[in-house]
Amino acid sequence: MTRHSNDEVLAFGRRYLAMIEGAELSLDEKHAFIAETVEAYERYVNRGFIGYRKSVTEAGQFAALEWSGQGSVLRDLLGREYIDCLGGYGIFSAGVNHPRILRAVARQMERMALNSQELLEPWRAGLARLLAMVTPGELANVFFINNGTDAIEGAIKLARLYTRRNLFISTLGGFHGKSMGSLSLMGKASFREPFAGGLQDVRFVPYGDADALEAELAKAEQVGTPVAGFVVEPVQGEAGGVVPPEDYLPRARELCTRYGALLIADEIQTGMGRTGALWGVDHTGTVPDIMCLGKSIGGGVMPLSAFIATPEIWEVMIPNPIIHSTTFGGNPMACAAGIAAIQVTLDEDLPGQAAAKGDFLLRELGTLRAKYPQVLTEAHGKGLLIGMEFPTDEIGFRCAAGLFKRGVLVAGTYSKARTIRIEPALGIPVELLNEMLTRLEDTFCEVAKTA
Ligand SMILES: Cc1ncc(COP(=O)(O)O)c(C=O)c1O
Repeated sequence: MTRHSNDEVLAFGRRYLAMIEGAELSLDEKHAFIAETVEAYERYVNRGFIGYRKSVTEAGQFAALEWSGQGSVLRDLLGREYIDCLGGYGIFSAGVNHPRILRAVARQMERMALNSQELLEPWRAGLARLLAMVTPGELANVFFINNGTDAIEGAIKLARLYTRRNLFISTLGGFHGKSMGSLSLMGKASFREPFAGGLQDVRFVPYGDADALEAELAKAEQVGTPVAGFVVEPVQGEAGGVVPPEDYLPRARELCTRYGALLIADEIQTGMGRTGALWGVDHTGTVPDIMCLGKSIGGGVMPLSAFIATPEIWEVMIPNPIIHSTTFGGNPMACAAGIAAIQVTLDEDLPGQAAAKGDFLLRELGTLRAKYPQVLTEAHGKGLLIGMEFPTDEIGFRCAAGLFKRGVLVAGTYSKARTIRIEPALGIPVELLNEMLTRLEDTFCEVAKTA
């Protein structure tokens, strides 16, 4: 694009700001704005993304502009409503725009939106204290950042610093982010391969297989490159709600201790109640050495992530406390959101709600699978992190498109197109879940006719 005059830039910016600040649009103006947004996506964001949307949504409706939302219902610019069973890939565990979380952030924003970086930040300290109070074992020292990838990056650096070792073990199908360090742990070739090599020396083992983990730890020790850490999700999220055997994490704990490797739990998607316990590791009472948090810890209002470790491990961060630092991490609005998110999670028993509603959903999906075996081949998961498996990518896409047409948002996964995730707010009303199931059956019925 050629460079524009300041007057032209200001005219565009003025229109956008007026809409952000609430200017009403006529129906014609709304349609024009939708077309303008699609064009800007294609020309200035990534036209591949528009193509990707078209493939999973109904032709005309792919251009829905997200405008507002509350709880488990989203609205587009034209006022169409969607039942949110995708939860922003796990950020909306407390629902969209939870009033208590919004209020905390709004009050903090009015007082002081970001921090000077020089004075002490009270909500950073407060949220760190709360996290130390609610996380397992001796986990106590926290570093805040803004996305899951950076939590994993920090955990990798901390594990290297503490163990003085370089090798990591990750799992097939594991997803830990896409920065160069975290990408090294990626258990899916299509995201890793174009950036060949990665930063970390990583070995991969099948998820859920503690014997394979033991063999890899033993091999690494024998060849003189012992393992710094084993990075694992308590339930695999991007892979579509894959639940390991009951004794997997306890055995991984025992093996890591035996081989002097750190157990690094990636709770970025499973944390804050998602799987029916506050943390995914709580189901088996497993205590990791480092835990990575993200997504819903910001209450669905602010970007926030963290890694938390034991004081013993943290000692290596003390001599040079800025050996790892960040400008925006632990900012007051994000930490206010985190404090309110913990409050809401415990007050509303979101883990308990996720456990009960997850059991209900899995039962109902079992019934649908028996009725439409040519469409739905499997449903699995824990709490409200549930994956539906389809026989082919094509059938999976048709189901996602059918649901979108019927006003239900679900998560087609990056890792496997034939797996669709159901990941709603943990407090989603049962009536909405039932309505979603009705629309799901409608979709299966339609797809089954030509499957
Ligand atoms: C388990 C897990 N770890 C890490 C990440 C990366 O988080 P982010 O996209 O916030 O960087 C994700 C994102 O989906 C995730 O599910």
